[in-house]
Amino acid sequence: MTNNSGPIGIFDSGIGGLTVLKEIIRTLPGEDTLYLGDTARLPYGTKSEETVVKYSTENTRFLLKYNIKLLVVACNTASAVSLGELRRQFAIPIIGVIEAGARAASRATKNGKVGIIGTETTVSSSAYTKAMREINADIDTVGQSCPLFVPLVEEGWIDDDVTLAVAERYLRVLKNKGIDTLVLGCTHYPLLKGIIQKVMGESVRLIDSAEETASEVKEVLMGTELNSDPDRGGQVPVRRYFVTDVPRRFEEQGSRFLGERIGKVEKVALIL
Ligand code: DGL
Repeated sequence: MTNNSGPIGIFDSGIGGLTVLKEIIRTLPGEDTLYLGDTARLPYGTKSEETVVKYSTENTRFLLKYNIKLLVVACNTASAVSLGELRRQFAIPIIGVIEAGARAASRATKNGKVGIIGTETTVSSSAYTKAMREINADIDTVGQSCPLFVPLVEEGWIDDDVTLAVAERYLRVLKNKGIDTLVLGCTHYPLLKGIIQKVMGESVRLIDSAEETASEVKEVLMGTELNSDPDRGGQVPVRRYFVTDVPRRFEEQGSRFLGERIGKVEKVALIL
């Protein structure tokens, strides 16, 4: 029996995945959503693959208790290293942010030179490169981790000279590589689109994995007939937010990432 009335489950290491949820809500406004931010254990971006796979498995088990019909791994780091293992263990459709971003970048590049920015673990996993090479073996990639972007975004320094200086320093490496496309391979980076575009110049196309992922979620739901009945008797979609540490910071900053007010945030223990 298809579970088309269950919510879409989404997890991230913390708050950044709300950029992905924002796009999912924009693309599929009628779907119930359930978001888990593993705030007690973030950041994932500097942790080992083994640890991130363990956390991702625990997050998925937790969300499955709520009868989710599809899982979105909104965290680039978790998608980069744990998607294969999650798909082996769990039977529901699982969508990560890497494949969608890689597809869009492969479509966008004209000269076959693509830059990837993300956390240390994402860049060193080469997950974006592998995904792009499956589509087009001739694509050349260059990766650069930008670890300071995450705290700068969380601090709200979006349009700030300090952030601009940091971006200039990180992106310098990419500027003389002749890339025409740059993948924003981290949940937080869509908030820095303005600064990144300014540093890279207008000729470089920025790929927002969050937008691409939301389109893929829609396609998969339609294709598997898991999309909710559009006639839900006028019922307002349910939005639930879970975190693993105290919710205060998430509640305060969440609206900036989500682009709308966050409702109640519940603190949960993942141990089942
Ligand atoms: N959510 C992470 C990502 O997209 C960034 C924050 C972290 O390192 O946990 O890679």
